[in-house]
Amino acid sequence: MSFFEYRNGEMHAEGVTLAAISAQVGTPFYCYSAGALRAAWREFADGIKGMNASVCYAMKANSNLAVIRLFGEMGAGADIVSVGEMRRALAAGIPAERIIYSGVGKKASELMEALQAKVGQINVESSAELETLNAVAGQLGVRANITIRVNPDVDAGTHAKITTGRKENKFGIDIDLAREAFALAGRLPHLKVVGVAMHIGSQLTSLDPYRAAIVRVRELIGQLRADGHRIDRFDIGGGLGIVYADEKPPSIADFMAVVARETEGLGCELTFEPGRRLVGEAGVLVSEVILVKPGAAKTFVIVDAAMNDLIRPTLYEAWHDILPVRQPRQDAATIRCDIVGPICESGDFLAQNRDLPPLAAGDLVMIRSAGAYGAVMASSYNSRPLVPEVMVDGTRFAVIRPRPTIDEMLLAERFPPWMEPVKA
Ligand code: LLP
Repeated sequence: MSFFEYRNGEMHAEGVTLAAISAQVGTPFYCYSAGALRAAWREFADGIKGMNASVCYAMKANSNLAVIRLFGEMGAGADIVSVGEMRRALAAGIPAERIIYSGVGKKASELMEALQAKVGQINVESSAELETLNAVAGQLGVRANITIRVNPDVDAGTHAKITTGRKENKFGIDIDLAREAFALAGRLPHLKVVGVAMHIGSQLTSLDPYRAAIVRVRELIGQLRADGHRIDRFDIGGGLGIVYADEKPPSIADFMAVVARETEGLGCELTFEPGRRLVGEAGVLVSEVILVKPGAAKTFVIVDAAMNDLIRPTLYEAWHDILPVRQPRQDAATIRCDIVGPICESGDFLAQNRDLPPLAAGDLVMIRSAGAYGAVMASSYNSRPLVPEVMVDGTRFAVIRPRPTIDEMLLAERFPPWMEPVKA
């Protein structure tokens, strides 16, 4: 079942038309389907049935409090990468012990806050971080539960900017240097090593890189145990892909089958950190056409959403499906166009060379698969207010982050005291 579909010629999010939300909220806006979020979660929950495993939502993909809470109420933990995300997870009701703190550059002050909040696990990514964390835990008189994130040096076959498990990426400790790092961790009195972590990249559409990486880490786990370490947990990371165009990402069931097979007999509790797969297809960005500008080379459809609202197309050459909110006639001709925003940069596009039914000023369009790395990566470049977020649940909808007013944006700034007040 699709949670976004045409009914009676109108695009619906579950039981609500996007046009109705637009009339109330204005454009552009992000819209998330609670049903789709729950369905995505259930796939994971069903997938790990019978396994000694847990799922920590990688909330960097979409950190709206309502979204985190929805997953938390269904049993999710959280994978965080900053104290800001930690505060969000806690505010949304995720118990601290179900929080995993990942990230390549955590500051002592951040580690301190995380330990004070009693987060369940810290995934350490360097020897320097081991030392810092040990010192901070010592100051607080606690022992920190850690895994060491290793870099298994496999090619995830994904976009260069979102691959993380190659030697040349900054993430994790080189798998060949991991034993030394574990030895160091073992000597540090305020650290308790509980396991190994990995994360090889994002938007993976093949299971082969997972298989290859797990095989390498499994071997490492054997060596670490022989070295005398207790390795109880194996954090597999996130990364499973979704459909943007015609990708065929593996099912969660197939993914879990591979993981179960490759980790059989290892005796580790497994952790998964999915982000995109839980939220990506559950969200859309809705925008209104401002004007259509026919050009010599191509037609530009200028819409009121822009690269500051959804940066994926320009940053990763990402392809997002775009559909008119009012269903076009079956036999409608298409025109080749670029869907672009109003920002003063040629990189400001949502789609290029796309064949779409003719659009006119005032029409609404829906940009699909925008629930992950959409709103969270938005900025207010060109002093454009952050786009509001809406959650639909059945026939209800609610604004879960309002659009700030320009006044609110200005109030966040200060003149230095040496400047005269602005004359009225
Ligand atoms: N765990 C760790 C340690 C991560 O670094 C990430 C994502 C995840 C889990 C979740 O990965 P996912 O399941 O969402 O693929 N902004 C980019 C994606 C960046 C991903 C960064 N790390 C994009 O829009 O494609």
